Order: sequence, then structure tokens, then C-alpha cells
Amino acid sequence: MQYTTLGRTGLRVSVAGLGTGGFSRMGLKSGKTEEESARLILDAVDLGITFIDTAPPYGTEGVVGKALKSIPRDKVVVATKSTVRRDGEWWTPERVVASLDNSLRLMGTDYVDVFNLHAVEAPMYDYALNTLAPALAEQQRKGKIRHIGLTENPIVDFTNAALKRALHDPVWEVYMVGFHMMHQGARANVFPVTRKKGVGTLIMFAVRSIFADPPRVAREMKELAAKGLVEKWLGETDDPLGFLVHAGGAANMIDAAYRFVRHEPGVDVVLFGTGDAAHLRTNVASLLKPPLPEADRAKLAALFGHLEGIGLDGHQGRSR
Ligand SMILES: NC(=O)c1ccc[n+]([C@@H]2O[C@H](COP(=O)([O-])OP(=O)(O)OC[C@H]3O[C@@H](n4cnc5c(N)ncnc54)[C@H](OP(=O)(O)O)[C@@H]3O)[C@@H](O)[C@H]2O)c1
Repeated sequence: MQYTTLGRTGLRVSVAGLGTGGFSRMGLKSGKTEEESARLILDAVDLGITFIDTAPPYGTEGVVGKALKSIPRDKVVVATKSTVRRDGEWWTPERVVASLDNSLRLMGTDYVDVFNLHAVEAPMYDYALNTLAPALAEQQRKGKIRHIGLTENPIVDFTNAALKRALHDPVWEVYMVGFHMMHQGARANVFPVTRKKGVGTLIMFAVRSIFADPPRVAREMKELAAKGLVEKWLGETDDPLGFLVHAGGAANMIDAAYRFVRHEPGVDVVLFGTGDAAHLRTNVASLLKPPLPEADRAKLAALFGHLEGIGLDGHQGRSR
């Protein structure tokens, strides 16, 4: 494993981070038991992963708790989250603190290393900053939270609008950012400032559903080419990313997707989720490989650098 420092938090973390949400939820979605999912977390730790991301809506905090019974607590960095607004209802500071306390109980720990406000959109930002952040800072003083962060909601925020606002406020030490081969906006919108200010970055959506599904990539390219948003030839092939796979290049599209994100300047931890032990191993192997050849990186930037919002599907309808 390779390790890095998560911005000014000073936390040493593995560059590969285990996401326990996404569509896999450590395999719970496909019928794994909590014990089997916890075993997968231990496999990840055996591979050197020391960053684990969870959240109450994922239903995996109990699984993380099961795994933590076999891991010295100070050997892993654990991040969880709280909702800010759901179904039109704003969560009060009391409710957010109750959520934190429940997360601690489920995980059987007395602190979280990074506590993120979850899927904050630009219109929620003032409330997050002015009403919730002070309550989180108080929990930090009590030792229940080590560092406070913010995750964006790329499914609706294609332009990093919430994070662009947050860049002015020093309370947030960590951001979770959507970034991938066809959604590269954070290179200009986020990373220059996070690097300057020492904000740690956790990357989501490196693969999500789109890059695990080659026919879908071809469909998306056809649509985009028809709209004139990408070069015509990309819509005329069944394998638009085939140029990345060659001797000295990527082994396949998923390998390319993880390596592209991993080596972007400004990226600290690349999160990935899986319910599959073989995928766990191949994804870690990809993240530990060298960058894609410079010519391929440049081509990805030239072909897709202007796109935003591609393949950022959510849990409802899996649409963009
Ligand atoms: N706003 C937020 O706060 C937010 C939003 C989204 C995600 N997240 C966090 O980020 C983490 C990562 O989420 P993500 O959105 O990037 O998606 P992801 O969960 O990493 O999605 C990857 C998908 O591709 C499949 N996959 C992974 N490796 C594969 C391989 N080698 N071969 C074939 N298929 C493979 C996985 O299914 P298998 O089970 O089959 O491997 C999974 O469904 C989440 O777990 C969560 O912790 C946070």
C-alpha cells in the first residue's frame, strides 16, 4: 500500500479508501451477511487500507463496528456522516449530534476521525456553516470528532458549487469530491485551492456504475456525439475508451478509471466500494500502479475535460 497525509488534518492514510456505500454496500445489497461484509473490511485492512468511509443511510456502520472489534482502533481512520436536509426537512444541530452518537454506538467506538456533513448542495451551505458547524466544533472539543468535513452531491451539483463556496471557510478540513475520466471539473474548481489551503480530499465516483459497464459508456458517447458534445468518432465505436488499453497502458477500463483519478494532483484518497473480494484486490492493485501514460492522460483531458455530470447516477432511477 502507499500512504499519504490527508491535508492539514495530518492523518496518515492509505491512498486507497474503502467506501462502504455506493451500490454495493460491502455486498449487503447482493445478499452478503453482516459477518461476510465485515470479513471483506478485514481483507481490505490486510491489503493495507487504513481509510474506511461509512454513513448512516448506507446501513454499514454496524458492519464497520464488527470489523473494528478485530482492528486496533488507532490503525484505521474512520469517517462517517450526517444528513443536513432530507425530504425537505432540515436537521437540527441536536438531531445531527444524536446521529453522531448513534454512529459511535453502532461502530463501538468513542470517536470518529472525520465527520462529514453529507451531500451538501449549494443552497444548503449557509445552514451547514452557520447552524451545524458550530455544533460539530463543540463535539470536536469533546473529543467525539477529530476532524470536520463536507461531502458534495455530484448527482445534482455538476459544477462543485457547494465546495466552491466552502473553500472560503476554514472549519472544513476534508472534502469528498466527485471526479472521474468524464467529470473532470474539480481539476479547476477544487484542487488548486484544496492544495493551497491543505484541505484533505477523498474522491468518489472514480468508477461508480458507468465505468463498470462498457456498453453504457458506448451509449453515453453516442448520445453526447449526437449532441455535438464529444468528437464524432466517439459515438461510432463500441469501445470509445479502447485507446487506453495497450501495452504500457491500462489493463482495462476500470484499471484506467482508478489510475486516472489516483494520480491527479490534489487527490489524496480514492474511495471505492465493492461487495466482491476479487474486485477488492484488483482495485487496490490498480491504485498502486503508476499513472496512465502521459499521452493517454492528455487525451482524456482533451476529449472529455469539458464534460460535466456524466455517469453520476444516484440510487433513484440511476439516471445522471
Ligand atoms: N455524497 C457522498 O457522500 C457520497 C456519494 C457517493 C459515494 N460516496 C462514497 O464513495 C464510495 C465510493 O462510491 P462510488 O460512487 O465511487 O461508487 P462505488 O461504490 O465505488 O462503485 C463501484 C461499482 O463498480 C463495481 N466495481 C468495483 N470494482 C469493480 C471491478 N474491479 N470490476 C467490476 N466492477 C467493479 C462495484 O460493484 P461490485 O460490488 O460488483 O464490486 C460498484 O457497484 C462509497 O462507498 C461511499 O463511501 C459518498
